[in-house]
Amino acid sequence: MTTRRKLIAGNWKMNGLKADGIALAKGIADKLASASPDCDLLVCPPFTLIAPVADAVAGSRLAVGGQDCHAKTSGAHTGDTSPAMLADLGCKYAIVGHSERRTDHAETDSVVKAKAAAALAAGLVAIVCIGETLAQRDAGQTIEVNRSQINGSLPEGANAANTVIAYEPVWAIGTGRVATPAQAQEVHAAIRAELVKLIGAAEAGKMRILYGGSMKPDNARELLALPDVDGGLIGGAALKVADFWAIAESC
Ligand code: G3P
Repeated sequence: MTTRRKLIAGNWKMNGLKADGIALAKGIADKLASASPDCDLLVCPPFTLIAPVADAVAGSRLAVGGQDCHAKTSGAHTGDTSPAMLADLGCKYAIVGHSERRTDHAETDSVVKAKAAAALAAGLVAIVCIGETLAQRDAGQTIEVNRSQINGSLPEGANAANTVIAYEPVWAIGTGRVATPAQAQEVHAAIRAELVKLIGAAEAGKMRILYGGSMKPDNARELLALPDVDGGLIGGAALKVADFWAIAESC
């Protein structure tokens, strides 16, 4: 049985001004200074807060990441941020392909794959997000959709050290309607099986697959105990130190 160190990642989305962000990050870092949950911890602030947050937690065991990145390293892309710029600020991770970006910015699998490849090239760990909509689940297409998204979004050269997968059923994001353990394990196992075909059993066995979608302190332990759930990508519960820490302690 391969042991995979769990990752609990907070996706702050479009939330927080400087004072809030620094206080939230420092609150988590301060807890890490005197306690060691059995997981890696990461926060992904909005772009405007990455620099002050990274500076505030420098030297702690709290990692910082971006919520997106462009597929290019520089150039005429107004409003965008390159992976190199994230790395320059001290980021170690970049979320790519979040369903909110796939929807709001019409990001296709090929766009997500290019962003993930650029993140890897800049030395970041890419957190590649996939997940089905309620309509797709109701139509019995869940496994097919997630298999297709993994095949279309996984960059060349992906391995367990440079890539993390996040399964986020769209119908569970921000709704309070969390996937049941059976639902989560079924899809995570199918993702792992697809990864075996794509990158081989050794790397697939070590690659972390996070669950995201209404993970909260009261449901985290059961989800994190599942054999193919290797952590969480947390939205709402990441905005409170106590809730985020409670999830970390559930690992
Ligand atoms: O990226 C994580 C996010 O989509 C999950 O949000 O609020 O359901 O935990 P939430």
